[in-house]
Amino acid sequence: MNQDELFKKVISHAKEYGFIFQSSEIYDGMQAIYDYGQNGVELKKNIRDYWWKAMVQMHENIVGLDSAIFMHPTTWKASGHVDAFNDPMIDNKDSKKRYRADVLLEDYAEKLRQKADKECAKAAKRFGESFDEAMFRETNPRVKGYMDEANETMARMAKGLTDGNLEDVKALIEEKGIACPISGSKNWTEVRQFNLMFATQMGSTADGASEVYLRPETAQGIFVNFLNVQKTGRMKIPFGIAQTGKAFRNEIVARQFIFRMREFEQMEMQFFVRPGEEMKWYEYWKEARIKWHKALGLGDENYRFHDHDKLAHYANAAADIEFNFPFGFKELEGIHSRTDFDLKAHEEFSGKKLQYFDPEINKNYVPYVVETSIGLDRMFLAILSAALKEETLEDGSSRTVLKVPMALAPVKVAVLPLLKKDGLPEIARDILKELQLDHNCQYDEKDAIGKRYRRHDAIGTPVCITVDHQTKEDDSVTLRNRDTMQQERIKIKDLATTINALISLKSLLKD
Ligand code: GAP
Repeated sequence: MNQDELFKKVISHAKEYGFIFQSSEIYDGMQAIYDYGQNGVELKKNIRDYWWKAMVQMHENIVGLDSAIFMHPTTWKASGHVDAFNDPMIDNKDSKKRYRADVLLEDYAEKLRQKADKECAKAAKRFGESFDEAMFRETNPRVKGYMDEANETMARMAKGLTDGNLEDVKALIEEKGIACPISGSKNWTEVRQFNLMFATQMGSTADGASEVYLRPETAQGIFVNFLNVQKTGRMKIPFGIAQTGKAFRNEIVARQFIFRMREFEQMEMQFFVRPGEEMKWYEYWKEARIKWHKALGLGDENYRFHDHDKLAHYANAAADIEFNFPFGFKELEGIHSRTDFDLKAHEEFSGKKLQYFDPEINKNYVPYVVETSIGLDRMFLAILSAALKEETLEDGSSRTVLKVPMALAPVKVAVLPLLKKDGLPEIARDILKELQLDHNCQYDEKDAIGKRYRRHDAIGTPVCITVDHQTKEDDSVTLRNRDTMQQERIKIKDLATTINALISLKSLLKD
């Protein structure tokens, strides 16, 4: 399966097995808005729990928050979103398709980088063990040419966007000969800025109503509650406030399934530190977050850091953790050193002090902030696309299996009576009742046992327990492991311990 085929398969599998549906599908759906089905909602919840456990419950100095989606409109003036939360858009006059100008240029640069990687791979094959990739990248004119052009393109784009020189961004698109993928033409409009916030009216009549925004990030709910939490929780710097929740952005280009949505969920943590110590904590959180990802076992080679060329209006350092999605390496999580920008801006706009008295240095100050921000839906897509496998078995048949990390699987255990008679369903239901106390389990008696195993492979169920006639004689069942397909016979009384060892979050969280 190539990457395109894999991506199509992920989308169709997500629908067929109740993970993700197009929103309002019976009315032909809405672009970039999705609903999570019976298995999707469980997987999503488990990812959220894994994050919450690691970030909040395993850090003495981080606490949670659940702030409202609607916030006072001045919040967004202070945060800079009203003036600066824009994407540069450009239309192709022939296809009438709208694009993000920066994405067109990033894709162009990425293709150049891929060409350089290909040259390196070819050379590695040619030179064998003696190949020194770093040296080759530095000295090979073709590779250097590709990389220089990619870097120059990104740097010029970043400068154009930072300076508000949109004419130069358009000139760059034209100079690089970038064509519309639909019409193939280079007939572009000017580049314009487009604000991504959704606005709506609050109040019963349009006259008396005021304009409010659906929050485009959850972070501002944390900033405006900074003192509430610090005071009531008697928090001492450094400390963090974390929350998960919906965010809304009127994305210009909504594509790649749940990668870029208009309604999505974020998991964010703001870590408040002493001014001057933010770089230390920025490095700390980069390290901690990549570890959290790699613990899932989706393959270390599927992650990389990308330092931002163009910093957001609030940041003095920023990096993305990128994941190797079926459409290439793309941002999964952002780690930003946000300085004191937000708290200072809220002080200014609200007229209230948002300062901390640091007893260790006997000083009042506005704390600096290091943020970790990850999209829950993107994390879901990363897991789904890395986990979906087509395997050819020893007997030549094939199976589709979703090798999601066992601790995150939507259904942890399937309890299956071999037959629908002879008292086997009753024993199976007793086992189910006991295991249900700890895990999300399913009872399934329909179809032949092999078909039932396949059904559970497809939704990633780590363990299938089969109750057969021998169970009646010696209280033992078979336990089938999703990944190895090995079956072992174990006593019913030992089920809980064996299953816990396989699917507990503990193994992911320990390090
Ligand atoms: N508070 C900082 C912030 O919101 P961001 O880089 O704009 O930073 C953080 O977003 C994360 O939210 C991203 O790394 C991504 O995982 C997720 N995200 C952003 N826009 C998204 C969208 N339209 N659809 C799905 N996830 C999105």
